[in-house]
This record gives sequence, structure tokens and C-alpha cells, in this order.
Amino acid sequence: MKLSQVLYTQGFGARRECEGLIVSGFVRIAGEVHDDPFEEVDPHGLQFSVRGESWPFREKALIVLNKPAGHECSQKPKHHPSVYSLLPPPLRRRDVQAVGRLDEDTTGLLLLTDDGGLIHRWTSPKHHVPKVYEIGCKHPVSAEQVQQLLHGVTLLDDPVPVRAAAAEATGLFAGPQPDGAGELHGLRMTLTEGKYHQVKRMVAAVGNRVEALHRSRYGALTLPADLAPGQWRWLDGPQVITPPAAPQ
Ligand code: URA
Repeated sequence: MKLSQVLYTQGFGARRECEGLIVSGFVRIAGEVHDDPFEEVDPHGLQFSVRGESWPFREKALIVLNKPAGHECSQKPKHHPSVYSLLPPPLRRRDVQAVGRLDEDTTGLLLLTDDGGLIHRWTSPKHHVPKVYEIGCKHPVSAEQVQQLLHGVTLLDDPVPVRAAAAEATGLFAGPQPDGAGELHGLRMTLTEGKYHQVKRMVAAVGNRVEALHRSRYGALTLPADLAPGQWRWLDGPQVITPPAAPQ
């Protein structure tokens, strides 16, 4: 692939801009300046830098963001900054999209990709990708509430009951605490669907109230402990979320 094409596919601007970055000497591979836009390079596993910032070649972008509170998962946010404002321009230009949305006040694991097929697959109710939420509830979480969540609850606008794939009370809530919230009671719940405000509505349906909500796991991926709120990281590929089934 031509070097200018590499930069173009990775979101560094229009073709002319990419050629300009290269001829101006801003692009390095293994520390060496490469200033010929038409140089043929093997993109597979390629690591390059633009203006000193290191970048891996990825045919499709797949990243994990530790979503901070106070950010909307929308390209056109209404009341708060967008999660997309936390990403560098090349990723934004590649048009990465959130894999499902988290509420403005929800924190934690958010996947973003420019692979429309993956977004479709992972957000489709058919695929039952498990998502784990750490929930700070206003009231103590009773055994009866846990049983109701596991058994299935009906939400106001939907006659079909929704159930948690797993639910357990976890003592005092130890996740990210919203300002001014007093002592919260922990509930860990796994959902395989992603209906609008599903956690909050399910918890309300059993007579409790969500005061804090944090997603800690998506499929096989746990939010990396060293990824601070607002930071993002490349993921190696879809297999880190949905590993291939082991041969029978
Ligand atoms: N359920 C909710 O209620 N909110 C979220 O952000 C995610 C799941």
C-alpha cells in the first residue's frame, strides 16, 4: 500500500493533506523519516508516527474507552460534551461509533469501532453478548429484589418481561460515586440485551433506585484497571470481546 494511502485510511485527512504530511517529513517508520508519499509499504503490523505521535495501522479501528460521567454518547450532544470529543482527530475522522450507548451519567466500558458489521452483531439482541453493570442503589438490595430481577420484570412500555442473566447484591457500592451521593448499596447485574435505560428501569421496577451505574465488562472484556476515566486504548480485535467457540 502507498504510504499516503496508509495515512488516508487511518484518518489523517484528505489525500492531499496526507501527501503534505509525508513530504514535509512529519511521518516516520521505526524512527526514520519517510518522505515519499508513493513509497510502497506493507501495512500489516505497521507502526508509524505522525508529528511524533505513534500510531498502529488498523484496517478497522476497535477501541475501549473508560467513559467518564457527564458525557453523551452522541455526535450531536444536547447538554454535555460528547464522548467523541475524548478521541484524537484521526479516530473521529474514521467515524468510529459507540457500540450501543451509555447514559450521560453512566461510567465505564464503552466500545467504539468503525466496523459497522461488529456494531450490528454486538448490539443485536440475537447475539446475547453479556454486559456486566456495577450498580449503586439508593436502598439496600434485598434477596427478593435479586430474585425478581433474575425471574424477569415488566417495564412500563413493554409487555415482554426482561430478566437479568445474573444478579447479586455486593454489599456497599465500591464503584465510581456521583458527587453528593451518600452511602450506596451494591448490585451487580448481567444483561444480554440493551433496551433504553434498561438497568435503571429494571431496578426501579423492583422498588429500588439507581444512583450510580458503571459498566465493568462487555462480552469477554473487562475494563482494564489501569485505564483512567476519559482514556481510551486500542483492542487487538473482535476476539477480545467474543472469542471463537472452542472446538467440540
Ligand atoms: N442501562 C441503563 O439504564 N443505562 C445505561 O447507561 C446502560 C444500561
